[in-house]
Amino acid sequence: MSGEKIIFPKGRQIVLGVSGGIAAYKACDLLRRLQDTGFLIRVIPTQSSLNFVGRATWEALSGQPALSTVWENPAEVSHLSAADTADLIVIAPATADTMAKLAQGRADDLLTTTVLASNAPVLVVPAMHPNMWLNSATIHNVEILRSRGFTVMDPEVGRLSGKDFGVGRFPETAKIVNEVLSLSKAELFLEGKRVLVTAGGTREEIDPVRYIGNKSSGRQGLAIAYEALRSGAEVTVIAGHTDPFELEGVEVIKVNTALEMMSAVEGEFHKNDALVMTAAVADARPTSSAATKIKKSELETIDLTANPDILGKFAESKRSNQVIVGFAAETERDLIQAGLEKLISKGADLLYVNDVSGGAIFGQNETSGSLIGLGIEPINFNNVSKHEVAKTIVIQMAKKLEKVNG
Ligand code: CTP
Repeated sequence: MSGEKIIFPKGRQIVLGVSGGIAAYKACDLLRRLQDTGFLIRVIPTQSSLNFVGRATWEALSGQPALSTVWENPAEVSHLSAADTADLIVIAPATADTMAKLAQGRADDLLTTTVLASNAPVLVVPAMHPNMWLNSATIHNVEILRSRGFTVMDPEVGRLSGKDFGVGRFPETAKIVNEVLSLSKAELFLEGKRVLVTAGGTREEIDPVRYIGNKSSGRQGLAIAYEALRSGAEVTVIAGHTDPFELEGVEVIKVNTALEMMSAVEGEFHKNDALVMTAAVADARPTSSAATKIKKSELETIDLTANPDILGKFAESKRSNQVIVGFAAETERDLIQAGLEKLISKGADLLYVNDVSGGAIFGQNETSGSLIGLGIEPINFNNVSKHEVAKTIVIQMAKKLEKVNG
């Protein structure tokens, strides 16, 4: 543990700009689908769009304030904070008026100011009456935006508000989500899958003030949770003691001891397709935990009882379509051989062997080791980020899942 807050890579924050067209109501579904895909959404509705969908709806759906002007929260300098944190700006629906403002580089509300202040890619999803879409002013504005690198989707042909029919319809949500995925370069190879990750170290209590613990920071497990989430999985983290972190979009169950971790895994495992046992589970606990602080004169020896092997237990009873990834910490010379023995004895499908010779890795952002599994060539890592290892583990886990699920 280093005590330093765990920072996750960027790539998940979307600013959803909503401008004033009837299709604003369809943007509610778009927001939900983007959240399902692991994105975090901050909505910036234009003032006129609030006539179609109110601020309360956006705030309830996104869990974040949905401001329209720079004057609502001047202390936060909203346009700059939204511009800085956005990995992608999606304007859906984009009216002819909003596109005209963007083409001119105007900045008279929070949305246009944010676009002007941000370096993030912008996806524009127009929806309007055919006469407005086909007006030469709009055609020219779209050309300007495209020439500046904005991605402007073509609206669809179909029924519009009132009795009108023609080009100008808001595209199907799935089409917009696909466009967002390709712009954000996310690959959803774990879509529809549920992944359970244990992270951090357990603490085994000796008395009310002392415990047996370990150096685990939870960084590797949380990197795996993040990468699984980015790959479209629903993720639950069972966290022992870790460095501080905030990872929106995952369910977190906090535990203290190995026995608590065991019963949390028991409660969750059957709902999941994969279990990643990154946690450093204490192999033993004090046979009895004293109710009062033990005097130092009585602290000569501590009787220990072995903890259950969580990975081993669930590897024995897992369904044939579930996959288990284990971890090992080794100081052996032949990491791969030691890892293979552990993989087989524990019954894991994949195992990442950390090279912890010299106390390396704990609390660090970088790691060295090998990912092994029966039927795959070992994949070796030498001083790479824990996110790089996590990405490879998630890809290999997805391949195993594909195999066992036919
Ligand atoms: N593990 C577990 N339950 C335990 C102990 C460990 O599920 N009581 C899991 C860990 O989360 C990890 C793997 O088993 O995925 C580590 O196995 P372990 O045999 O404890 O390996 P090492 O920590 O390398 O320990 P040692 O070689 O000392 O046995």
